[in-house]
Amino acid sequence: MRRPGLMLFGSIVAIGLVAVLVAIAVENPPPPPRAGLGERVYYRYCVDCHGQDGRGSWRALLFVIRPGDLTDAARMRADSDDYLRLLIKHGGAPLGKPGMPGFELTLDDRQIDAVIGYVRSMSRGALPAGDGAVGARGDREPRAVPAR
Ligand code: HEC
Repeated sequence: MRRPGLMLFGSIVAIGLVAVLVAIAVENPPPPPRAGLGERVYYRYCVDCHGQDGRGSWRALLFVIRPGDLTDAARMRADSDDYLRLLIKHGGAPLGKPGMPGFELTLDDRQIDAVIGYVRSMSRGALPAGDGAVGARGDREPRAVPAR
């Protein structure tokens, strides 16, 4: 007896499995050597979906996730820091953007602020030069205020 439905289901499962295996097997690139905190956080936790350049990764494409374009200055200007903090901490679901996961359990406030600085630097066109240019990224440690 032939069961076309079962065959189709089987093929979909098989293709899905291959996609998952590929996505797991291929490692993300490491951050550039002198990356600041925000950039390191981004490479570790955000690159999977948002891609190195912030325009969305091939992984996201593979799973039909649409993370949008973090280099879009107009879009990023419209997002306040408070909004981004909420989004990254609790995920997009409460804000009507269910595709974006929350990082409350993985990132502390300092890391979240740093990664926001890094994400903002993407839409300012100061992308990962890795050269530590002053002011190129928003995630540097605050400069010590002179005593007087
Ligand atoms: C599992 C995939 C995934 C991961 C991992 C992920 N994101 Fe997202 N992100 C999304 C998706 C999907 C959206 C778009 C949600 C929408 O528009 O519905 C998004 C949206 C965003 C936005 C735009 C929000 C807006 O309203 O303009 C920012 C900023 C963002 N993510 C930052 C981050 C940061 C920072 C990290 C790492 C700490 C991260 N994302 C990790 C999937 C992901």
